Formats: sequence, structure tokens, C-alpha cells
Amino acid sequence: MRIPSIAAIMLRLAEDWRDAATLKRALFMRRRDFVLGALGTSALSYIKPGLALAQSKRPAIPYGAAIRDGAMVDDPFYPQAIIKYCQQVVGEGNLKWITLRPDRETFAFAEADALMAFADANGMEMRGHNLVWYAGNPDWVEAIGSAEEAKTELVHHIETVVGRYKGKIRSWDVINEPIADQPRAEAPYRDSIWLKHLGPDYLDLALRTTAAVDPEVQLVINDFDFEQPNDKTRARRKAFLDMVRGLQSRDVPLHAIGLQGHIQGELGIDKPGLTAFVAELAAMGLSVLVTELDVIDKMLPGPEIERDGIIAQRAKDYLDAIGAAKRPDAVLTWGITDKHTWVPVWFSRDDGLPNRPLPLDADYKPKPMMQVIEDFCAEQ
Ligand code: G3I
Repeated sequence: MRIPSIAAIMLRLAEDWRDAATLKRALFMRRRDFVLGALGTSALSYIKPGLALAQSKRPAIPYGAAIRDGAMVDDPFYPQAIIKYCQQVVGEGNLKWITLRPDRETFAFAEADALMAFADANGMEMRGHNLVWYAGNPDWVEAIGSAEEAKTELVHHIETVVGRYKGKIRSWDVINEPIADQPRAEAPYRDSIWLKHLGPDYLDLALRTTAAVDPEVQLVINDFDFEQPNDKTRARRKAFLDMVRGLQSRDVPLHAIGLQGHIQGELGIDKPGLTAFVAELAAMGLSVLVTELDVIDKMLPGPEIERDGIIAQRAKDYLDAIGAAKRPDAVLTWGITDKHTWVPVWFSRDDGLPNRPLPLDADYKPKPMMQVIEDFCAEQ
């Protein structure tokens, strides 16, 4: 195969696409060509023969990762890893209100569209994350002043965003993290601008509106901390199940639960408790997905071999506990490489060593956690 020079690729791109935004999108979509051209034979040797094999033999459960738009453009190895390992992608931030809605009038779809095009070009599904959240809102949303305004904006947002990707995004995190951090019987829900103005009815409104726009879409409520061996997790599971019972009693459509899986490495997994929780959800007719798996290693031992072993074991315990009750529809990690992860922003280590929460290390080498995921997803 003749490898085109960078200059030839840039020229072709510049001829095909004129403005800077579209050029960026084009780089994103044609990253594979670009990387091959830019890196020459070293890039070719980086792409192992396993690539074609991995993607021609699809696992029983699709594996995917949350994607950082900046890394897709700036780090040539990043899209290559996604292409090599993933059957699904989800934007780490490109569909959040803070990105999409800088002001009331604007819908800034360029980054999400670019990821959609990348997914399409590489035979992947793209999940939607998210439509309603207590966090990740621009100031104008946090300044919403009445129930009427909240309802109008929420409905308009969902209609526009779900409508744009109708038939393409087939699974949406409609509601993200609705349960209070430490739920109490009288206050099970997390504070948000939506809860403040609409009360818990915002859950019904968001799910019903999404279903009305795209009746085929999988409606997901996505949340975390269901696996820890402590009272907090037990209270969160109970509050979550109560919420689902309430929704079902009002005939609100809901299809699946997103189990985020930001595992606190030092705590271990309450396997029986997690299995029982998923079994209850399954008995209510719901599917489950693992949506944001990573292992927070702030408190784990420093040596890499030891740390990676614990991380892999936590991931295995987590997946096995879920799978014992119901096989998930998909397994996604929140990022794919330790090079690009949210974990150090909140959980940097006291010894100054880099965090290692994800299946590939910062040099894109697979760690034991990747093997755990591949084995789990391969099982029929
Ligand atoms: O884009 C700006 C950049 O221009 C600026 O230079 C930089 C300076 O800090 O900030 C950048 O924005 C950051 C953005 O991530 C992109 O990296 C925001 O400050 C930061 O708040 C944002 O954090 C994201 C967070 O959600 C809030 O949206 C994390 O990357 C993302 O991993 C995290 O994802 C959440 C899920 O949505 C829900 N579940 C938990 C998960 C982890 O917290």
C-alpha cells in the first residue's frame, strides 16, 4: 500500500473541506488515514495484525469506551486504540448541556457529530450521555427561575437532541445520577435545578419526552455507587429500586439501568449485594449496562504489578457479580487509556505516581483489566 505524505493528505483535506471547524471534523473522521500518513512505517508496525482479527470476531457483549474529543484530534494513538478494541463509543462530554448549550439559543453539535461520523465509519454504535443531570450545566441553565421555564427548556432540549440522532443513537442515558449521595427516606433524590423546580416529576417528563421523540430508543437511568460493601451503597440501592418502582407504577417508560462502575479500589466489591440488586432490576423487566467502568486507585499500593492485579480483580468481581444475575447489554469503560482519564483530577495519589484506572496503560499497552473485560464480553 502506498502511504500518502502528510502534505498530500492536508492538501486533499483542504480541497475537500474549507473552514477550520470542518477540517477538524475531517481529521477526526479520517484519522486512520492521517495517522498512517503521519507516522509511516512505525504506525504500521503499531497496528498489530490482531486489529483485523479483534474486530472481525465481535464479542458476545459489545465493549466500548468514553471518548475525549481533544484526544481524538491531538493524540494519533488514541483513535487507533478505539478502532482496535471498541464496538461502542460514548462522548465523555460532547452531549452534556455545558458543551451543547453554551447559551439558550445554541445547539453546538459539531463534536458529537464528529464522534457519530467516526463511529459510523468504523462500524461502532454511539451511546448518548446524557440528557438530564444535576451537574455539567451552563450558568444560564442553573439560573432557570420557574417550573414553567424548566419544563419548556428540558422538553425543547430533549426534542432537539434526541430528534437529531433519532435512529442513530439507540441507547440514551436519559437521566444521569438522580439518587442523592447519601439518600434518606425523606430526601432520596439528588439536588438539581430540575428537582428544585419540577420535583421528582422531572424524571417522568424526561423519560416520556425521550420516548415520544424516538420510540425505538433504549431509555436508561445511569448512576453509581451500587457495589461498595457499606451502608451508603445499601441505602443507594434501596432508593434506586424505590424510584424504579414508582416510575413503573406510573407507567413511565424505562428500559435499562446504567451501572457506572467507578469502583473505589480499596473497598472491594459487595458481590452478593450487587448480584441481588441486579436480580431485582431484572425481575422488574429491566436490562443493565455497565456504562463507566474504571477502578479508582488512589488508595491502592504503588507497585504497578501489584496495583494492576488488584484493579483487574476488582473489575472481574464487579462484572461477575452483575453477570451472575443478568448479562449486561454492553460494557463501557470511562476512557480507554490511563493517558486520558478524569481520575487524577479528583483522585490523584499522595505518592505522586500516575493513576492506572483503565484497561490500557499510558503507552497503550493492555493491562490485566483488558483481559478481564475481553474474557467477560466473549462469554456467550
Ligand atoms: O474543556 C475545558 C478546557 O477548555 C479547559 O482547559 C479545562 C481546564 O480544566 O477544562 C475543560 O473542561 C473540563 C472537561 O471535563 C473536559 O476535560 C471540565 O473542567 C471538567 O469539569 C470536565 O469534567 C468531566 C466531568 O464529567 C464533568 O462534566 C470529566 O471529564 C468527565 O469524565 C466526567 O464524567 C462523569 C460522567 O459524566 C458521569 N459519571 C461520573 C463521570 C466522572 O466524574
